[in-house]
Amino acid sequence: MDTPQDTPGALSTQKALALPLGDVLPGVRKAGALSPKRPAVETAGLADVFPYYAGFSFEWARHHLAQHETELVSGATVLDPWNGSGTTTLAAQSLGLDAIGLDLNPVANVVAKLRAQDYTQAEEVKRPHSGTEVCVDDDPLTAWLAESTIRRVRQWCKVGEDSRGSTRDLLTVALFRAIREVTKKFEGSNPTWVKRAKDAADTVLVANEELDVIIERHVRFVSSRVGTQPFSKRAHIMTADSRKMPIASGAVDIVVTSPPYLTRIDYAVAYSRELALLGVNISSDRSLRAGLMGTTLIRRQAEAPVAVGKVGSALLSLIQKHDSKASSGYYLKQAQQYLTDLSSGLDEITRVCRSSATMHLVVQDSFYKDVHVPLAGICIDEATMRGWVLKNEPERFPVRRTLTSLNKFAQTYKKGDVAESVLTFYRGK
Ligand SMILES: C[S@@+](CC[C@H](N)C(=O)[O-])C[C@H]1O[C@@H](n2cnc3c(N)ncnc32)[C@H](O)[C@@H]1O
Repeated sequence: MDTPQDTPGALSTQKALALPLGDVLPGVRKAGALSPKRPAVETAGLADVFPYYAGFSFEWARHHLAQHETELVSGATVLDPWNGSGTTTLAAQSLGLDAIGLDLNPVANVVAKLRAQDYTQAEEVKRPHSGTEVCVDDDPLTAWLAESTIRRVRQWCKVGEDSRGSTRDLLTVALFRAIREVTKKFEGSNPTWVKRAKDAADTVLVANEELDVIIERHVRFVSSRVGTQPFSKRAHIMTADSRKMPIASGAVDIVVTSPPYLTRIDYAVAYSRELALLGVNISSDRSLRAGLMGTTLIRRQAEAPVAVGKVGSALLSLIQKHDSKASSGYYLKQAQQYLTDLSSGLDEITRVCRSSATMHLVVQDSFYKDVHVPLAGICIDEATMRGWVLKNEPERFPVRRTLTSLNKFAQTYKKGDVAESVLTFYRGK
């Protein structure tokens, strides 16, 4: 296990703090270092089973976990508190490690569970009877689909409800894919913002037979991809908040994670169609959207103030002083809310980790208009404040295509290059 004494090249707390954190980090692009970036088409670890925004590839997560030789032998517990589609939990399981994955988005957890399960004894998924009774009153899918199409989708959901949990997850992911296919016209140039039908005439009507064929094609695809090798360890995948983890103190040995970035991705809007399939209407129930870190909603209830370190505070002051509209109002509040959530998440990670734990973080810097958002520097500062020590210099990987590059309004301001950083910490004494 990594300790301050036996870790060559570890930076002391003082040295880590002395880094010019608010500026571009003096990280290294090590020759041969494995980039966390996912390849354009990633099939390893079932990454292609559903398009979820993942901060790193399956290969990267496995590679970093495989370096923990001592823990692999002793049977350690791995945590990803922003687990998304379960790349970390699957990588941990594949190495025989216990894994806990938390995410507040139930869509992510369905995908993560699907990837974690063994389908050797899979049940056959049968087409529902056309007479199956379902209720489609106030169905959140009305934002995209015509009533008769929703009725057929809900009949398929009923097949899932009457099946084993693993079959239900398989069918649910197939339905996520099928709904995405038929509602493609609601996706714009920004892949994280999904539009809704303007009126009933704008909703999508698919004949039952055609819909069945589409759904069955996706069921076949997902079935052909899922795992048929039982893992020795189960992954515990939970719908839970990283700010309040349902985990005992000191239970975790290794954290591998990528938190949401300060890039205004609204995970609830990005997955609004899949949430609707699960019965969550993000327009009438704002609680999920409000709870997600990085949300574009400003919470109404005042939260207890959390102390933010000097790099985060410097960023807040630059946003506040920016002369563009709403910078000192809405955008300042959104950044404050984000930094508060990041701090609370790091507080919780620190609580649930053992004193010998290691934490691997993948984070991406970004720009607020022309203001550099030094997320790697903020994380180093915040983690150091909580007793974590940066093990070696950050590995930095340039990012070519960002969400900002897809947004023509955001292009008004001149921006510098951004990079993704891999930060590895151990806990100081
Ligand atoms: C960058 S993604 C992680 C992707 C993940 N590495 C994967 O392989 O898919 C960040 C995740 O954080 C989740 N998230 C946001 N706020 C959260 C919160 N308060 N508690 C738990 N998860 C949250 C989002 O739903 C999203 O899935």
